[in-house]
Amino acid sequence: RRLIPPSQPCRAAGGTVATRPEAAKGVQRPDLQVVRKSFHALQEERRERAERSVLISCSPKVSEKKLLKFLSQHGNVSNCFFYQSYGVYAVVEFASKNSIVGLHESTSLPSMHHEVSVPFKSRLLTLKTNGSADQSGGSNSVEFHPQVAMPINELLQQLSAEESVDQQLSRLTSALQLTEENVSLRFLVCSLVKDVAAAFFPKCTVHPFGSSVNGFGKLGCDLDMFLDLDAASGNPKRKPSGFYLEYQMKREASERAVTQSVLSVVAESVEQFSPGCVGIQKILNARCPLVRFSHQPSGFQCDLTANNRVAMKSSELLYVFSSVDERVRGLVLAVRYWARVHGVTSSVAGAWISNFSLTALILFFLQTRGPPILPTVDQLRDLADQSDQCCVEGNDCTIVSDLSRIRLQTNTESLERLLQEFFEFYAAFPFNHMSINLRKGKEQNKPESTPLHIQNPFEATLNVSKNVNAAQLDRFVALCRESAWFLQQEAGSKPATVPTGGSAQAWGLAALFLPSLAQAAGVKGRRKKKREPASERVKSLLQSISTSHSSQ
Ligand code: GTP
Ligand code: MG
Repeated sequence: RRLIPPSQPCRAAGGTVATRPEAAKGVQRPDLQVVRKSFHALQEERRERAERSVLISCSPKVSEKKLLKFLSQHGNVSNCFFYQSYGVYAVVEFASKNSIVGLHESTSLPSMHHEVSVPFKSRLLTLKTNGSADQSGGSNSVEFHPQVAMPINELLQQLSAEESVDQQLSRLTSALQLTEENVSLRFLVCSLVKDVAAAFFPKCTVHPFGSSVNGFGKLGCDLDMFLDLDAASGNPKRKPSGFYLEYQMKREASERAVTQSVLSVVAESVEQFSPGCVGIQKILNARCPLVRFSHQPSGFQCDLTANNRVAMKSSELLYVFSSVDERVRGLVLAVRYWARVHGVTSSVAGAWISNFSLTALILFFLQTRGPPILPTVDQLRDLADQSDQCCVEGNDCTIVSDLSRIRLQTNTESLERLLQEFFEFYAAFPFNHMSINLRKGKEQNKPESTPLHIQNPFEATLNVSKNVNAAQLDRFVALCRESAWFLQQEAGSKPATVPTGGSAQAWGLAALFLPSLAQAAGVKGRRKKKREPASERVKSLLQSISTSHSSQ
């Protein structure tokens, strides 16, 4: 991490001269002092690290020292961490990709009595012991890095023990946000899936997108993957003169049909060959065709898509927004959590607000502060240079990649105030005739009569929240109204007395997450679906197996 050199006034895209914000009094903004890596540089670095990593199932009593000593015969290990999911796993990153070759050469095939193994040699391995060797480290047990968010009751307890709502918000952010280890694991799982697809498309890549990389991920969120075949199918740069050769290829009627057939084959291969991938569902007729599965060793629910370049660009846009000011992530995580506990959003698709739409509402609100906390998408485009130019399917998706160019006037509002103002803003927003426009940072007249209209920042004719019905929007507005009112009341400050019995009374942010808030707002809880999706059933089945094992 490198410090930004002394600031210089710069011309903001809106035409006003802005100065680089200094750390505002009372507002923690250390991120502004740091030059964040560009989205692509960060992605590429993580992807390359994942390529030289392996995932090893170990004994729960494994000794880190013994494991590293054993692995060091294949090369230097540059990073290693352990976690517990359905068993104990080590993520081991070698300093060189060559080490993986040596490691594979010395790895045995599993011996089976009644079954036969499918001989696909992946980077998901098991540490076995032979004869007198022992994995155990005695009393020196390894540290397990959590890969899922803590249960809500525990979180509410922790929040209630804080002294102010601002401290609660900061505690919530650190409890929910993705850890460095979790992000590494996400890239590793993408890299493992890439190995399967590479059997057909040797130069393909699989990139995580969505909340795994946009800065707003919460521990336990799904893993959205984008299978990129472009590198595999690109034409040579130089135009041939004279003779040249052309591939003979099968043809399909449309780009969509090609995506469907590629995903279908990759899904079959993942199902047949890739250890740890279970519950594969092909959802190829969706607007965006996808393959859904659970990656059991990591516990991730994965959604694999292809030909989804705009979503990748949206992830970059959100990453840029999340990097501009650290209050952005704090507010997004808090509002997303609030929305989830009150059923404003859901893990399944439906007529309710998606996390993506909700995030757009929060970002828009931050663009409208005075002075703005976030730039508009047009401003990000105007700050871009030649190398940032990007056009996807005729849409201009250009945004600046050098984050140090984004400079705004100082806004010193606390996160607590922003949360309160967010609720007030949307409690009174004229949704019936106005639309949200992130490109301009201004509301505009609705072009169509859907209850909620959020213009897609990269596909101006599309409404990101087309799925939302009036009842779900009303529910959101009622909860905003109730939450704004609640934060204004005394209940928003820590009670003077803490009851005996150890557990603090829920107050402030913690109380905002209690079901009583929705009851006070007069909104009904949504009825639980009778049957969970197959992937969820597989997850809970695995969970129950793991619980019964560990209790034996
Ligand atoms: P989580 O709920 O934490 O998974 O958030 P997420 O941002 O990853 O959302 P989700 O998994 O539903 O979608 C993944 C990505 O797909 C998003 O980040 C967007 O880039 C894109 N996306 C999702 N929904 C929409 C939509 O309605 N319109 C558009 N244009 N893109 C969407
Ligand atoms: Mg997601």
